[in-house]
Amino acid sequence: MQNFIITGGNRLSGEIQLQGSKNSTLPIMAASVLVNGKCTLESCPALTDVYSAARILNGLGCKCRLSGNTAEIDSASVSRSEIPERLMGEMRSSIMFVGAVLGRLGECTFSIPGGCELGPRPIDMHLAAWSKMGAEISDCGGRICCRMPKGRAHGAKISLSFPSVGATENVILCAVLAEGETVINNAAREPEICDMCRFLRSCGAKIRGDGESRIVVEGVETLHGCEYRVMPDRIAGATYLAMTAAAGGEIILKNACIPESEPFISVLEQTGCCICCKDGRIYLRRGGRLKAIRDRIRTMPHPGFPTDAQAVLMAALATAEGTSVFEENIFDCRYRHTDALIKMGADIQVMGKAAVIRGVRRLHGADAEATDLRGGAAMVVAALSADGESRIGSIFHIDRGYEKFENIITSLGGSIRRE
Ligand code: EPU
Repeated sequence: MQNFIITGGNRLSGEIQLQGSKNSTLPIMAASVLVNGKCTLESCPALTDVYSAARILNGLGCKCRLSGNTAEIDSASVSRSEIPERLMGEMRSSIMFVGAVLGRLGECTFSIPGGCELGPRPIDMHLAAWSKMGAEISDCGGRICCRMPKGRAHGAKISLSFPSVGATENVILCAVLAEGETVINNAAREPEICDMCRFLRSCGAKIRGDGESRIVVEGVETLHGCEYRVMPDRIAGATYLAMTAAAGGEIILKNACIPESEPFISVLEQTGCCICCKDGRIYLRRGGRLKAIRDRIRTMPHPGFPTDAQAVLMAALATAEGTSVFEENIFDCRYRHTDALIKMGADIQVMGKAAVIRGVRRLHGADAEATDLRGGAAMVVAALSADGESRIGSIFHIDRGYEKFENIITSLGGSIRRE
């Protein structure tokens, strides 16, 4: 198993081109199952989860070829409606393929998806919505079988009890080729859902209201291929901004998604960093010591503060002047990185949903294991700002979300190597 060896203390400076969004690419790859033709996706990040998605597509009988950051997918020949248990277990986004396969073939057999352990991650809302759209759901020897008895889903009114990103995407995927109209109330509004909808519209889907809490999908008979560029990754962007805020220095994110990053930037600005957003670029400079954030940082569905950026911001606030408080409202177990930060000298107390961070002057290097994707990235952020050397293990978690992570950090002047 590989480790990152990091020597902290270097200021970071430079310009970076952001990778394409992981959380857009995966549902878009799933959406391509609905298309009776060829799609070319540009700006797909070269990540282990994207390779898993390609394996799922090929297993379904689609033809998916990845080359650099381009994915060529031809789903004209999709023929199998079963997703092997091993592939389901590789990542959470494997569940997105179920909505698409159900929409295209009218049936799907699958098992519970894998992914980061952030607390219970049930799929009850996905199943309830498909059932309302006509699916019969049964247990087939420990696996889940969803079947549309009429061969095709029908439109329905779906009211989600919580604006779940995955459930919203999965209802849309099942609805695009369904008979009639589907309305989703209390839909999630995350930018990655809008990106998937833009892709589907480029293929001829009729979807409106994405980005709002009421989405309407009018089923069509068939979808055609298209060429599409995935949006930049706002969470990778938040990570590099938090990293520079923690270590000191200045950074330019060249192809940033500015409005989509606003909920993160408006909080980060309160640390005293100078941030300027213009012409698709985000510039950040940290001069003196960071200031703690006065108001409680509450993670919320978009446009609230993103749960995916909680850990990396916490790592930066560990050395801020004063006390900051987080409240994690999306996942039950999303503070698993705090033990590693404490090992590096941070003063953090977790009490249920809340985490209280009393800023210390300096962190020191330590050995730690990445616990999950964003938690692992937070450990790298902390290690880059700490005195001395750190070894971060289990970095396969980090590889699931950050393309060329150590190359980018090295190009900014950070000392990090993989071994
Ligand atoms: N939930 C249910 N039942 C369901 C679905 C969700 O109770 O049927 C609960 C979850 O347990 C959780 C909450 O609803 O407590 C929110 O989950 P959501 O469905 O919104 O999350 P997701 O679709 O599983 C995506 C991202 C996550 C991101 C969350 C929230 C992808 C592939 N994953 O997960 O990203 O944290 O939305 O924004 O898009 C990451 O990139 O590190 C990551 C974990």
